[in-house]
Amino acid sequence: MSPTIEVSDLTVSYGEEVVFRRENFKLEGPSLIVVIGPNGAGKTTLFRGILGLIPVEGKVFINGIDVTGKAEEAGKLVGYVPQFKAEDYSFPINVMEIVESAIALRGRPPRIRFPREMKTRVRKVMEQVGIWDIRKKPLLELSGGQRQRVFIARSLVWDPPVLIMDEPLTAVDPMGRVDLVKMIKELAEDKLVLVSSHDPSFFLDKAKMLMVVNRGIAALGPPKEVLREDLLSKVYGRSVFLVEKCVHVVDGYAV
Ligand SMILES: Nc1ncnc2c1ncn2[C@@H]1O[C@H](COP(=O)(O)OP(=O)(O)OP(=O)(O)O)[C@@H](O)[C@H]1O
Ligand SMILES: [Mg+2]
Repeated sequence: MSPTIEVSDLTVSYGEEVVFRRENFKLEGPSLIVVIGPNGAGKTTLFRGILGLIPVEGKVFINGIDVTGKAEEAGKLVGYVPQFKAEDYSFPINVMEIVESAIALRGRPPRIRFPREMKTRVRKVMEQVGIWDIRKKPLLELSGGQRQRVFIARSLVWDPPVLIMDEPLTAVDPMGRVDLVKMIKELAEDKLVLVSSHDPSFFLDKAKMLMVVNRGIAALGPPKEVLREDLLSKVYGRSVFLVEKCVHVVDGYAV
């Protein structure tokens, strides 16, 4: 069964402030979907709405299952790597404990019955993302790239068919980015992966769709259809040149 996210008539508001109004779309995997849009456009809000972490109107279906407003149900199908916020990282916890918190938070993965199997599963994902050797390190001592890998490992513990990663390249240096992008592209081989980024050019060669968010879904389609100056300048204004340059240099799509 191919992983899907479908929303119908999705409206998300904070009090009087409407961020999405009656949006409809369907995303199908395995594939990589890149979500772009300026600060405050609503990318995180859309993700949190899909995950049932904030109230929405309308419907959200994951793999055809209605998960609207049901964070626990959505969480069984979607791995989530939240956006980096510096203030979240000051508590004393090590790498292993963060990855294991995926189990503690949600009970046990369906196919894993005994604690030993859980340990095996945790080890497997930590090896997969390359953090097993640093498992005892405190979170505070990690580099940006290592920290992102830890949260990616946590999101993979349940082997979810869908992954949502909110700005995973934040605070990661250029070399670290190359490795991380490669890993995310590999995950998209057999999962539906939504990734938001202010540097979309890293992902475009592999992206099936580009979603432009700007207080609503401004555009959704294959990158070469969406990367048009008229459309992007409406969303980004004068900074569209930065986007253009990046896309030309790294990806080669004609804009
Ligand atoms: N918890 C909240 N309460 C009230 N308003 C919020 C809340 N979270 C976000 N907003 C508002 O919703 C809008 C969309 O914010 P959101 O964080 O989704 O944008 P974003 O596209 O993820 O931005 P960024 O690129 O900076 O991460 C903004 O105007 C923001 O101020
Ligand atoms: Mg955000």
